[in-house]
Amino acid sequence: MIADNRKMDGVEDWWKRAVFYQIYPRSYKDSNHDGIGDLPGIIAQLDYLNDGTDQSLGIDAIWFSPFFTSPDHDFGYDVADYCDIDPRYGTLEDFDRLLEEAHKREIRVMLDLVVNHTSDQHPWFMESRSSRDNPKRDWYIWKEGRGKGNRPPNNWRNNFFGRAWNFDQLTGQYYLHSFLKEQPDLNWENQAVREAVGNVIRFWLDRGVDGFRLDVAHIYCKDQQFRDNPSLLRGLNRVGGLAPADRLPLANIMKKLSLPELQVRKYNQHMPETHNVLKEFRRIYDSYPAVTSVGEIVADDPELIASYYGSNNDELHMNFYFELLQCRWKAGAFRRCIELWEKTLPAGAWPAYTLSNHDVVRALSRYGHDRDADKRARLLALMLLTLRGTPFVYYGEEIGMKEALLPKEKLKDPIGVKWYPLHRGRDGCRTPMQWKAGCGAGFSTAETWLPLGPELEQRNVQKQQSDSHSLLNLYKQLIWLRKTLPALYEGSYRSITDGIAEDCYCYLRQAEDQALVICLNFSSQQRQIILSDLGQPQLLFSTSPATAKGGIGQSLTLQPYEGCLYALK
Ligand code: GLC
Ligand code: CA
Repeated sequence: MIADNRKMDGVEDWWKRAVFYQIYPRSYKDSNHDGIGDLPGIIAQLDYLNDGTDQSLGIDAIWFSPFFTSPDHDFGYDVADYCDIDPRYGTLEDFDRLLEEAHKREIRVMLDLVVNHTSDQHPWFMESRSSRDNPKRDWYIWKEGRGKGNRPPNNWRNNFFGRAWNFDQLTGQYYLHSFLKEQPDLNWENQAVREAVGNVIRFWLDRGVDGFRLDVAHIYCKDQQFRDNPSLLRGLNRVGGLAPADRLPLANIMKKLSLPELQVRKYNQHMPETHNVLKEFRRIYDSYPAVTSVGEIVADDPELIASYYGSNNDELHMNFYFELLQCRWKAGAFRRCIELWEKTLPAGAWPAYTLSNHDVVRALSRYGHDRDADKRARLLALMLLTLRGTPFVYYGEEIGMKEALLPKEKLKDPIGVKWYPLHRGRDGCRTPMQWKAGCGAGFSTAETWLPLGPELEQRNVQKQQSDSHSLLNLYKQLIWLRKTLPALYEGSYRSITDGIAEDCYCYLRQAEDQALVICLNFSSQQRQIILSDLGQPQLLFSTSPATAKGGIGQSLTLQPYEGCLYALK
């Protein structure tokens, strides 16, 4: 064990202090020259993530996108065996080694639990599909067609655009799929399904993993009358969430012309029974020490997202608040977004924030390709790492990887393959990690499964390691600094608006013996801020390499796009 100052061992809620890092295994590091990332590759890079010293990034936990056996119609989000590793990524032995090596470095491991649906190649589904009286028939959602024309059972659409029902010739019934037809939905009303998935959770907890990210946990259960969803027109009055003026256009987030959402998903998501499933999961986690979970819960209404913490903090430990990555580039948009979530969260509920993931356009590209993009990335990093809650950093974000604009013939994501040019799919944010400049980017010596992202010359680890002002070094400094500041990892949050220009976002983080102020200048102009009555600020950190450290009085100047962290005396 590497001795360090984090003292997370034995702390039940280590995850509140942790900085998480999301790895998309296919794109992190290829060890056997087939152009696809793998587990031995990841093991080789663990020291980069945390070697116990501030020469490394310093993250405390990794969320791995799925690496389980899968025919890869949705790149691992269609699982054919929950308890094995896909041979392209390695073996269970490799996994055990990965876990051991991660734990040695005090890096916790979080797996992606994708159980709204399985792959159609999962033995459960193969059995279920084989005959109407197969014991596993009811593990999935089978229905008769409607009317003379044998139309689909209802009007539900899947999340990848298109009908949610597929007719299966063999037994003459439809099955439900909320994503691709190769991803049939499990029937969560069936007790045997719940037990089987419970055993999957135990399988990994017994092996020593530290938590789960729950894929689309808000759609497990469905309306049991399978009613038609109402048309979009009746649902236009969206509740809660970001105001339209604070929200980025959808096209910036998804890199697409938004395809028409034809209906309000009234009957195929957010069903009350799902909460019971999550409570059952929670009882399993709680029977092991120090396990955590984070939910991918998508809803317009913050109250609804918050409900997945459970009325008694007895469901998910954390929920992503995706509104944050949909904010327009406006200080007020970010401030209102956070204030709303802080206000909505029930007592004791712990937030989780991210700026990017494998489904959305990379943050740096969402906020423009111009020369200010890098300053904006630094500002966003400071915000992410100083809000109240657990930050999740998407691989490559620390070196400012940008979205790749791929030509049609290079696309792999089924959304892009099917809908280009209406929708480019999600490949642009899944390109290989950029370890160094040159062919293969240090990711692979073979042809890489997706092309490399843009501006490899600057946006690579090797280049940025040696530049003390690089984004990578900013992330390192902030992550290590964060571990020493209780106000950041356990303090309260309060917005500051008095004396603050409209295009600056400012907040106070306070723990028992520590008060910190974070000021973020979202404008391209210099801004003065006045922290009246708050005490004497002392600069601890700035995103601008030019700003000198030291005491600077009550009136503070922020350079364009500069963010500063102050301690109050
Ligand atoms: C989640 C995942 C996404 C996947 C989908 C279906 O939204 O993040 O990548 O395609 O679920 O599993
Ligand atoms: Ca490989």
